[in-house]
Amino acid sequence: MSNLRRPAELSPTLDVSGLVDADGGLLDRAIFTDQTIYQQELRRVFAPSWLFLAHTSQFTKPGDFFTTYLGEDPVIVAMDKTRRIRAYLNSCRHRGARVCRADFGTAKAFTCTYHGWAYDVAGTLISVPNQAGYPESFDTGDWGLVEVPQVDSYNGLIFGTWNPQAPSLREALGEMTWYMDAMLDHDGQGTEAVGGVHKWVLEGNWKLAAEQFATDWYHVNMSHASALMALSPTGKGPREEIVHRSGRQYADPNGHGAGFPVHPKNRFDAQPVHQWFDYAAARERLGEAQVEGPLTNGHATVFPNFSYLPVNGSIRIWHPKGPDRMEVWAWTLVDRSMPDEVKEAQRLYNLRTFGPSGIFEQDDGENWSEVQAISRGFVTNRTPLNYQMGLGSERDDGRYPGTTSELYSDAAGRAFYRRWQSLMNTSAWHEENT
Ligand code: FES
Ligand code: FE
Repeated sequence: MSNLRRPAELSPTLDVSGLVDADGGLLDRAIFTDQTIYQQELRRVFAPSWLFLAHTSQFTKPGDFFTTYLGEDPVIVAMDKTRRIRAYLNSCRHRGARVCRADFGTAKAFTCTYHGWAYDVAGTLISVPNQAGYPESFDTGDWGLVEVPQVDSYNGLIFGTWNPQAPSLREALGEMTWYMDAMLDHDGQGTEAVGGVHKWVLEGNWKLAAEQFATDWYHVNMSHASALMALSPTGKGPREEIVHRSGRQYADPNGHGAGFPVHPKNRFDAQPVHQWFDYAAARERLGEAQVEGPLTNGHATVFPNFSYLPVNGSIRIWHPKGPDRMEVWAWTLVDRSMPDEVKEAQRLYNLRTFGPSGIFEQDDGENWSEVQAISRGFVTNRTPLNYQMGLGSERDDGRYPGTTSELYSDAAGRAFYRRWQSLMNTSAWHEENT
């Protein structure tokens, strides 16, 4: 039993109804800069939501672990002795230091380097130096690492949530799974992560990146013009090739979003991947609509902060690090069935385009930092932003699951912020008794 009681005033709550007009397509820039809003996001958006943790291929034997974050909370993801993947708060129950400071590895136990408390890979406290110095009421069974109550995976992607009452992962993903399958389920053999995890810091609010990956094909021709030119075999600009391409954008009620050009001849850009890939078999397994659309191209975000790019197998998480900063962690996914040289071609293509110094990634990061850098100006901050493209175009077209809009649209952006607003204005499970 604890006599500790946290006063509600420690966590002031703002009504954000006036900061997002999802129906009208307008946003107040305070949502990118305000510290109180940011703290509320950690409590009401990140803590209750399913967040990406790792890929299943990172764990092959008991003791394998990977350290990451859920929101700003450090967590250890580990395979226990029964081969179950579990996650724990990476913070010692004694004075709070991280009990694991390695990025990944294999361990029998995690020993805190401050005073030496040690925990096994199931998070149980197994050793306390000078345990005799504690009162009789001290029970190591009460002081294990705080476990993430729900951890689950979907087609190789492991997610966790602090919310014990959250609906299942499958339910939270809803019809977004159809769009995810186009990248994750080509042949029933699954995917694996290759080449480690790349991590870099950007001076921008995490939502700028997450919403762009949910909704924004619009920036491609302008922001990435030189990159597209460099990739073009003719060296010509992208305009005639891409600007008029038709496509669809998916807007999910839970805030997820995906956009993709639609073309019967959609192809993977990396030649070895394109030559190896069996499009006919994929058509058989997935269907024409997935193959001509989200299989090879486009962008997507699983709300709130996990995004991916089918064209190069890039998956990434936008870790929030305060209102002004995010840390990007990015993996390359390949099909398990690919020969090694095809996997390597995919990895290199991803690094060249969307690695930390990739020719496209640089353009995007520059835009987000630019938007963030000026948004604290008093007048700037009060000047609303426009998310009105495709307003009213959302419909169920019968070919793609759920509600879709035009490729060039802010529909998924509006859905993203509608969901964000709803969570921000709803008490989370941990507030119910306070
Ligand atoms: Fe971990 Fe003291 S903080 S043992
Ligand atoms: Fe981009």
